[in-house]
Amino acid sequence: MSLEKLDIYSLRNIQKASIEPSPGINLIVGKNASGKSSLLEAIYILGRARSFRAKNIKQVIQFDKKELIISGKTKKKNGSSLHLGIRLDGNSYDIRINQENMDKAELAYSLPVLLIDPKSYLLLDGGPQLRREFIDWGVFNDNDSFLNNWRKYKKILQQRNALLKTKKIKHINVWNSELIQYGTIVSNYRNKYINKLKSIFIEISQNFFKFDEMELNYLPGWDDSIDFSLALTNDIQKDVKYGFTHSGPHRCDFKLMINGILAKDFVSRGQLKLLMLALKLAQVKLINNENNNFVCVLIDDLTAELDFINKKKLLGFLTNLNCQVFMSTTELSNFGDLDQLKVFKVFHVEHGEIELINNK
Ligand SMILES: Nc1ncnc2c1ncn2[C@@H]1O[C@H](COP(=O)(O)OP(=O)(O)OP(=O)(O)O)[C@@H](O)[C@H]1O
Ligand SMILES: [Mg+2]
Repeated sequence: MSLEKLDIYSLRNIQKASIEPSPGINLIVGKNASGKSSLLEAIYILGRARSFRAKNIKQVIQFDKKELIISGKTKKKNGSSLHLGIRLDGNSYDIRINQENMDKAELAYSLPVLLIDPKSYLLLDGGPQLRREFIDWGVFNDNDSFLNNWRKYKKILQQRNALLKTKKIKHINVWNSELIQYGTIVSNYRNKYINKLKSIFIEISQNFFKFDEMELNYLPGWDDSIDFSLALTNDIQKDVKYGFTHSGPHRCDFKLMINGILAKDFVSRGQLKLLMLALKLAQVKLINNENNNFVCVLIDDLTAELDFINKKKLLGFLTNLNCQVFMSTTELSNFGDLDQLKVFKVFHVEHGEIELINNK
């Protein structure tokens, strides 16, 4: 049900490291610049084939090295094991799962990783891109037909936009019908997902808040009082004028309302952080409930801005969530009381060397 073994070669300041993580909570402790985020980055790359902080993977490869390699062994709920490996040299990559070449989507299904880092705090008060990524990661793990339909939608959207730029739109209806077909499928998957997530999110939030009324509203990317085809018809002049498609699932979003008010407009910084955590942990719980898989939760630099009681509640919640967690911090005391943890390991990181220092 977790990542049982992890080997890292030539990733940032980690020259070579090998760890056997706990299936429960793994606390990663070390001074600034010791390599804590690099360890989380390695696990993220093993699941997503890209970094969460570098656009170009060359920045992640250790200086003076040509490639980085990460491999791991995971165990699923049904007891079966997978051997995962990825090699990246900045120009190309190879992914191996049980000795066979695979693609990024296969890797992402084999090791679903969910990241919570300082950038995640923009989930509710930043631009819609982060929220779209949030929804789509969830839908991808919820429904294996989603990716194919979403790829088809994006391809047709690109072709429609290219046509709009030429201003010769006599045959635009040919693109419209396919755009509507795949766009409607994609939007229905997302809508269904947000509805499933809503109740779990509200249940988790109640650990931290006592708000009367919370609503998670899905916004499909067009005026939802009309259907997608009418939105396209209404937009046609605007679309031609600007040369792109204004309405559609590529503009989807969601909003969180509390007692009828947009949450981001009145909650405190700490509350905003807890709401983001509750949303992300709801995604983890949903996969745990419905899937034969598990989620590996990576939490980088979490503890700032959370008070002692909320830190304690969060740690307690993570313990009971029954999933594998990797959390980094500079001081062990930031995690509060470790007695409440059932199964955990503490790893100390210094100059890229990782050492197990506590095991329960
Ligand atoms: N390509 C690279 N090759 C070698 N070292 C690198 C490379 N990229 C970054 N580093 C170094 O790796 C070290 C570890 O960085 P990392 O971000 O993992 O530290 P950290 O423990 O998370 O620190 P903080 O507590 O400040 O977040 C830093 O000293 C950084 O300068
Ligand atoms: Mg860091």
